[in-house]
This record gives sequence, structure tokens and C-alpha cells, in this order.
Amino acid sequence: MNLTILGIETSCDETGAAVYTTKDGILSNALYSQIDEHTLFGGVLPEQASRSQLKKITSIVRKALTDANVTMENIDAVAVTNRPGLPGSLLVGFCFSKALAWSTNTKIIGVNHLEGHIFSAFLDHPNIPFPHLCITASGGHTSLCLVHGFGDYEFLGETLDDAAGEAFDKIAKLLNLPYPGGPVIEKLAREVNFQDFFKYTRKSSKGLNFSFSGLKTAVLYDLVDRGFYDLKTKKLLNDSHELKQHVASSLLVCIADVFKQKVKKALQEQPEVQALTFVGGVACNNYIREQLENFCKNRNLAFYTPSKKYCTDNGAMIAFVGSYKAEQGKFSDYYLDIFK
Ligand code: KG4
Ligand code: ZN
Repeated sequence: MNLTILGIETSCDETGAAVYTTKDGILSNALYSQIDEHTLFGGVLPEQASRSQLKKITSIVRKALTDANVTMENIDAVAVTNRPGLPGSLLVGFCFSKALAWSTNTKIIGVNHLEGHIFSAFLDHPNIPFPHLCITASGGHTSLCLVHGFGDYEFLGETLDDAAGEAFDKIAKLLNLPYPGGPVIEKLAREVNFQDFFKYTRKSSKGLNFSFSGLKTAVLYDLVDRGFYDLKTKKLLNDSHELKQHVASSLLVCIADVFKQKVKKALQEQPEVQALTFVGGVACNNYIREQLENFCKNRNLAFYTPSKKYCTDNGAMIAFVGSYKAEQGKFSDYYLDIFK
């Protein structure tokens, strides 16, 4: 049976639509990213995000269908992100999908955005073995999962406060660097060869949970102690490129270490694990990718990470989840809502 799924993603600041077939994989992957619209604000402005989703949704879905050379008549189900996310953004793709599916008599499938990320590595690597561990690290989420099969996973640890990407973004803001922080911090760290200048605390949190807010505070107070930041005026007193390089590099090395520590701990508890996947926007980071890959090599563990276009938010991962849910007969009804 060859199923053709239209996947739609609008949970935050990306408008994504893609067509996936169980026989040939991804046929199209249309995307509009609002990053430039939010740079000014140092983070995603929810009202702006939903307005922009509304402007782009029709043309992006049309592009996905056209690029795949299909019409709605060829689509077996519309898979749409219905949780979690910014309500105003989620509602745009969700209402659009419901109306589209209803008016064309097509089935609809609600998809958890995190599940989209967790299985995104399959878009490039269809034969990842089970069970495997998955680190999902993005601007909104950080978690460590044990993945037993398609749609079958358990959270071993999650962030108790900020997400890893949020730590990059917030510390970038502290250093007067633009949003999103991850890519610019990686660039600065590379310039100084990923040296660990400040040795920030690795005590992320007990067990397999993460806590990146503590790391953010540690960086802030380290800057204050060195006389480089004024808490009263919230101003960076040393705006030198060198300081930014040193903070960026120490931060990146620290976050990579935290991930390795957690995976090491999880492996002790789950010896049957066959592979590690690393997904989400932070998985665009080449340094963390290399660190995790070497970590796995030393333990005879397979390592997989999606191509970068599937790390950040996209419709393809939602279409992929939709495809195995459709194969499993797990369709939603028209009473589907966001967050349900
Ligand atoms: O998955 P994503 O596009 O959106 C969410 O679901 O949040 O992730 C965006 C996050 C941002 O916090 C951004 O700073 C981070 O991914 N990011 C990176 C890199 N590229 C993007 N973090 C570290 N290194 C990168 N190269
Ligand atoms: Zn995401």
C-alpha cells in the first residue's frame, strides 16, 4: 500500500508543508522561516508569529503540492501539528488543515510536534534500529527519550526550565549578539577552536532531566564577578569580540558535555539501546554533532542526525509521523482541537 501524506507545521515561527509517500519518501518540503522578522526582538514575538503564519500558509501548502506534482485528490491524509506550540501559530495551520481536509473529504491526523522531531532522523536514515535513545534539543524543548518503535517512546528526562536552544538564545542576547543565538555562538566558538575557557558548571540537574536556566545564571554571574556585566543597568561592560568568543566557546563545550553525561547515564540504565539520534534545531550544531558521534563510536553505538533542513521545524517530519499513524489506522476525527 502506498500512502501519500500532506504534512503541515505551524507551531512557532516556521510555516512548513511537505508531501511524503510511504513508497518514495519526501516528494516536497516547502518552508517559510520568520527568523528575520523576530531578530529585532531577540526572540519569537507570538502575535507577529501568528500573523505571519496566516500570510504564508496558503502559498506554502500550494507550493508543497505543486513541487510534489500532486493535487488533494492524491492525498490520503492531512497530518497537522496540533500540540505543543504557540496557540496563535498552531491555530493557523490547524484550522487551515481541518478546513482543507473537510472540504476535500480527506482524513486528518493530529501530530505532536515533539514526536515529529523524535522521528525526523528517519527522513534521511530509514533503518535506524530500535530501541534507541533520542536527544531532542530545540528553542522550546529539550528531552531524552527511549524510542521503542514508531509512535512508541518514553521520556526519560526533560528540561525542568529552559531548553538548550533557549540557553543559546538568551546568552547570545546577554552578549549583544543577534537571534537566533545558536549559529552565532557556534561561529564564535569555532574561531577559538572550542576551548573551555571558563569551565561553567556541568551540574545540569539530577537524574536524566536537564536544567539550562542554572547554566544561564552561572554564565551571567561569572560575567558579573569578572566585572564584565552590570546587573543594575543590565549592560555588558566589556563588548569585546574576544570575550564573546570565550563565553561562546565555554558555553558550547559545556552544553555538549551535559548531553554526553546524560546519554552515558541513560546507557547504564538501558543497556539494550542500539543507537543515538540527535534532533531539533540545536542538532544543526556541528560541534555537538561531532562530539556525540565520537562518543557513540567509542561505545560501538550507531549515531544518526537529520540533515539540517529536517533539524529545524519543518512539514516533512509531521508528514512522516502522519504516514506511520495512517499505516497504524490512527486517524483523528473532525473534533480534533489544538493541545488535545
Ligand atoms: O527546532 P527549532 O527550529 O525550533 C523550535 O522548535 O524551537 O530550534 C530553534 C533553536 C534556536 O534556539 C536556535 O538558537 C537553535 O535552534 N539553533 C542552534 C543552531 N542552529 C539553530 N543551536 C546551536 N547551534 C546551532 N548551529
Ligand atoms: Zn521544533
